[in-house]
Amino acid sequence: MQLSNCFSLQNKRFLVTGAASGIGAATAELLVAAGARVVTADLNEVAQQCRGEKSLRLDLGIEASCLETIHETIAVLGGLDGLVHCAAMIRREDIDDVTEYSMQRQFAVNMAGPFHLCRAARPLLAKGGDGRIVLFTSQGAHTGGYVGSTIYAMTKAAVIALGKSLARQWAPEGIRVNMISPGAADTPMLRDGTSSAALDAFLKLAPLGRAGTPFEVAACAAFLLSPAAAYVTGHTLDVNGGMLMR
Ligand SMILES: NC(=O)c1ccc[n+]([C@@H]2O[C@H](COP(=O)([O-])OP(=O)(O)OC[C@H]3O[C@@H](n4cnc5c(N)ncnc54)[C@H](O)[C@@H]3O)[C@@H](O)[C@H]2O)c1
Repeated sequence: MQLSNCFSLQNKRFLVTGAASGIGAATAELLVAAGARVVTADLNEVAQQCRGEKSLRLDLGIEASCLETIHETIAVLGGLDGLVHCAAMIRREDIDDVTEYSMQRQFAVNMAGPFHLCRAARPLLAKGGDGRIVLFTSQGAHTGGYVGSTIYAMTKAAVIALGKSLARQWAPEGIRVNMISPGAADTPMLRDGTSSAALDAFLKLAPLGRAGTPFEVAACAAFLLSPAAAYVTGHTLDVNGGMLMR
């Protein structure tokens, strides 16, 4: 590793999911600013400054949409060096109110979606011998989540298992797979369905005393994608202001 290039992402080709909002949007913007070539994908429209070279419509809950996203990304970028999977959904509801539909949709979007994306991206990532994947899990995977997020917490625990499994099996092909586990990042997901009193109480749990910004989380993804993290794989990086110390 050249010391002058150890954080360089110049000309690396990345797909960023979830770029219409929050951490995914910040990650796409940051990677573009770092000189990377980026394609974004989301269920919703991605803002101009986060779009990269192309923005695709993706529904993680549909396998064909995941496969199409990878194929279109490769058509635009001519290859792929990394996948940053930020997109996810949460339905905050009490255990007694969880319907079969709600549970299956969250399983499909948060668990099956990343599985399909990673599997489809693998041949391209392996080709360069230096592929990188960053998957977003959640502090809820370790705590069981807070009120109303049981199913979401289940899916986020599965993301860690997926990432560790891929990290182990694809290491011989030069693919590194790491996870980021945010605590509270100031995005729509943090605020949707949460009262300000509940949010204040939650944020007080963090020694740093505040939510992280989307860019503070995105910067950690950029590190894991960079040559500086060449010897890091199968790791879950907590980005939580000290809220949970493991
Ligand atoms: N914000 C937090 O405090 C926090 C805490 C723990 C974990 N996380 C994780 O960080 C990641 C980013 O979260 P965020 O806070 O930026 O969320 P966000 O809600 O701001 O953004 C999530 C994005 O995912 C997209 N999305 C949802 N369903 C989709 C689908 N079916 N197909 C494609 N895209 C879909 C949304 O359109 C949205 O743009 C998520 O994986 C989330 O679980 C966030």
